[in-house]
Amino acid sequence: GLPQCVKVVEVGPRDGLQNEKIIVPTDIKIEFINQLSQSGLPAIEVTSFVSSRWVPQMADHTEVMKGIRRLPGVRYPVLTPNLQGFHRAVAAGATEVSVFGAASETFSQKNINCSIEESLGRFEEVVRAAQRLSIPVRGYVSCALGCPYEGSVLPQKVTEVSKRLYAMGCYQISLGDTTGVGTPGSMRRMLESIEKEIPPGALAVHCHDTYGQALANILTALQMGVSVVDAAVSGLGGCPYAPGASSNVATEDLLYMLEGLGLHTGVDLHKVMQAGDFICKALNKTTNSKVARAAFQP
Ligand code: HMG
Ligand code: MG
Repeated sequence: GLPQCVKVVEVGPRDGLQNEKIIVPTDIKIEFINQLSQSGLPAIEVTSFVSSRWVPQMADHTEVMKGIRRLPGVRYPVLTPNLQGFHRAVAAGATEVSVFGAASETFSQKNINCSIEESLGRFEEVVRAAQRLSIPVRGYVSCALGCPYEGSVLPQKVTEVSKRLYAMGCYQISLGDTTGVGTPGSMRRMLESIEKEIPPGALAVHCHDTYGQALANILTALQMGVSVVDAAVSGLGGCPYAPGASSNVATEDLLYMLEGLGLHTGVDLHKVMQAGDFICKALNKTTNSKVARAAFQP
């Protein structure tokens, strides 16, 4: 059966913007996040404490983190690949962080410049430092349904990396279909493997929509007990180190589907569409959300 409540994790300000070539002014990012905060979203991923040489769009992480108006009851996680990023995140006021690993060796090298094993060592340092400050850590596993460099990825490999992250203390594992190649079939096989090791209540799915499969994949995950779903407003998004990857599932489209299923999210779709309209205008883009295209009225 389906869960009654679904937690939507908005990743637009991070995953959505990180691949945009034009640098969005810091005050626009702050206003964007403040608008999202008003919509009832329970979690908004704000930025990444990564190298600005690798991801120039995230260079203003500290200013964004310090500039946003944080509402009680909303979580504001940030990406931290290593201790250096973690310390900077904490100095900027972060109270939740995410480490991001991969189930593909080549993707790990391209994305964070180290092997899977080395990355797990770094994440363990981050988790230990976070635990001392009572900061919860979320763990991503990229390439959960395929890799842009290696092609198919075995469910067993995804399970192994997820298990390591969970065992070291990540409270939740977000399974990333980085390039959106997955289908309900591969999603089902991957979750069947992981759910032997990790309770579904500790899992999230993070689906890109490159092949138009994201909503179908998410519905499959919901049917298998997952109740946390990552999404990006307007369907922004893509990873600079995943060639060919495009939009995340649009938050608006996800909310529309969840409402239709009668599942509670606590999120105001209209307010999310307004935030989407705001950021699309700033990016001089049209929305990737079919729901916003069909139904948004300012
Ligand atoms: P590196 O070059 O291997 O790091 O980068 P290093 O330890 O060798 O240090 C080299 C330089 O980087 C040094 O500076 C360090 O201080 C600096 P220098 O002495 O040369 O001046 N450095 C840092 N600077 C800022 N912040 C840091 C940091 N660490 C070291 N945290 C690193 C390693 C991980 C930093 C780099 O590879 C990086 O920044 N990668 C960015 C990866 C990224 O942001 N990718 C996109 C997010 S992941 C994603 O989108 C997938 C996801 O959405 C899920 C899905 O869809 O599947 C999450
Ligand atoms: Mg992503």
